[in-house]
Amino acid sequence: MDSMNSLVELAKSAIGFSYAPYSSFKVAAAVRADNDQVYTGVNVENASYGLTQCAERSAICSAIANGAKSITEVVIYTPTKHPTPPCGACRQVIQEFGANVKIRAVCDSELQLSWTMSDLLPNSFNQEQLNNA
Ligand code: THU
Repeated sequence: MDSMNSLVELAKSAIGFSYAPYSSFKVAAAVRADNDQVYTGVNVENASYGLTQCAERSAICSAIANGAKSITEVVIYTPTKHPTPPCGACRQVIQEFGANVKIRAVCDSELQLSWTMSDLLPNSFNQEQLNNA
């Protein structure tokens, strides 16, 4: 069975926790960590708008805060007709854990999108630049 299917179900089950009073655009994410645990997150909006936290970054912060050292898979769920790709800030945060991280965006239709991190953020700024300075 596709290892991402359980992430899809967990992301869908977290969508009710989304805090999106300003945009009403609910997003949930589930990540698989290197310890094979799965962590979920939702978008958390803020009256200052700019401090809004995306679902993907919520899930990644939860994973690391709970002892994971890295992540291998990310699922993004939106209750929409079309799947939602990760924003630029989330791409940068996901790529911290490597170019091979798998990402899938799912929604309420059969449409879905899948990538590896290197598809979404080629020529990224990462640890290599710091190591080569
Ligand atoms: N959002 C995410 O949670 N993840 C993304 O990758 C794109 C955008 C959220 C942020 C905000 O709460 C809402 O979607 C509308 O931008």
